[in-house]
Amino acid sequence: MSVLWSELMNDTHKEIGLIGLAVMGQNLALNIADHGFQISVFNRTYSKTVDFLDRNSSTPTLSGYETLDAFVSSLKRPCKIIIMVQAGKPTDLVIESLIPLLQKNDVIIDGGNAKWTDTIRRERKLADLGIHFVGSGVSGGEEGARFGPSLMPGGSSEAWNQIKDIWLSISAKVNASTGKPLSGAKPGKPVDGGVPCAAYIGADGSGHYVKMVHNGIEYADMQMICEAYHMLSSVGKLSANQIGEIFKSWNEGILDSFLIEITGDILCQKDPRSGAPFVDVVLDTAGQKGTGKWTSVNALDMGVPAPTVAEAVFARCLSAVKEERAKAANILSGVALQPLECSIDHLIEAIRDALYCSKICSYAQGFQLMREAQNEYSWELNFGEIAQIWRGGCIIRAAFLQKITEAFERDPALSNLLLDDYFKESISKYQRNWREVVSIAVNSGIPCPTFSSAVAYYDGYRNARLPQNLLQAQRDYFGAHTYERLDEPRGTFFHLDWLNENRPESRMN
Ligand code: 6PG
Repeated sequence: MSVLWSELMNDTHKEIGLIGLAVMGQNLALNIADHGFQISVFNRTYSKTVDFLDRNSSTPTLSGYETLDAFVSSLKRPCKIIIMVQAGKPTDLVIESLIPLLQKNDVIIDGGNAKWTDTIRRERKLADLGIHFVGSGVSGGEEGARFGPSLMPGGSSEAWNQIKDIWLSISAKVNASTGKPLSGAKPGKPVDGGVPCAAYIGADGSGHYVKMVHNGIEYADMQMICEAYHMLSSVGKLSANQIGEIFKSWNEGILDSFLIEITGDILCQKDPRSGAPFVDVVLDTAGQKGTGKWTSVNALDMGVPAPTVAEAVFARCLSAVKEERAKAANILSGVALQPLECSIDHLIEAIRDALYCSKICSYAQGFQLMREAQNEYSWELNFGEIAQIWRGGCIIRAAFLQKITEAFERDPALSNLLLDDYFKESISKYQRNWREVVSIAVNSGIPCPTFSSAVAYYDGYRNARLPQNLLQAQRDYFGAHTYERLDEPRGTFFHLDWLNENRPESRMN
């Protein structure tokens, strides 16, 4: 009905358009429509548009179109068009098909998980044509898109001003003073009040960059939770259901977060077929779409230490070689599980503490990455605000993020979260347990790549002297790569003539 009605009316007043009616696109369109914005939708396969409109015929703010021409013509100028298609080539194809239909000042918004360098390229190309391009991170999965995602838009400030009302309205909301998410959005009944989990991030690819780091942190959070589960089941000998209950109790304290909450739920779930714990029937290989890898590759490219995020990606890679692991399990020896030397209550508490300290380290790494990227790309990122818009709606939403916002409020130039008083004190309070958990895991042959890499990161960061004096000497030995001396000013380089029996030293600059 809406299709015919829209096309018969030849209307040109829709406030926003959306292309791509996969689940995320459908849910975002419904969220926008529920907030009272007139929205036009378009999908390459028209039957999908018809089906979507049929299923939502009671939403008067929603209209669909068969041709891209009719879709664009239905929009108020300057028009705003959200693209919710697959990242990469499909996004470029949609942009190419839109260009001839657009005018100066129109705005295209890419809401997919695009690589930030693609967003920079697209923004530049479209800016030359006078068209704005916003790369907006959208986090929160299907439910977030439908009832309030966390939104991370990057692009020109003019473009942001054009989409701001809609972005602030449709995002998740948090309580202004506590930072707690406000819940209760239902179809047609959006949440009002509170601080929106959407804020202008900065120029060109910054929004997609911040979303990518969000995902890198998400990878680390998820892997840490898996390590906690592994320890509780192997060392603690607890059932999935018992561990689920532990996660539910953890969700009441410092670990309060969406991922901990869903983990409690998942672990208590029974397999509908066999009645066994659901997790016990799921194959232990993890997939990935690439945002964690991008985060880690970028950390390596920029020389920023983000080992915990990278370990989380590698843990998925290692999980994926299931057949190889199954063979190796019959060939390689480990060590017998250590008998538990502490009470089970202590083990549970220690694992919680290990999870918390490791989490602090991976967030510290994520924020350091964003700090370096802002220098690299001349962005001006507001780290406290980024933590705040992650407080609700997104996958890594957690009470803990409020502490990050507060840390950056105390010191906007904070170079590493570990140096903030709250995090410094948290780690000093919990580190004994953290170290104990890592040593139990290592001594029991249980892999804990993120817990242990986080401890190593922490110890590396807090050590004024590391063994890379030796490494640099090795480099000088075999490759004349030179070294600096402790007793000379920084930037003065020396080389020892290792091939000369007397090994004389020369100053190289
Ligand atoms: C989100 C999620 C979302 C998605 C990722 C995860 O913020 O809503 O991060 O973007 O779940 O694509 O991807 P992979 O785990 O498949 O890499």
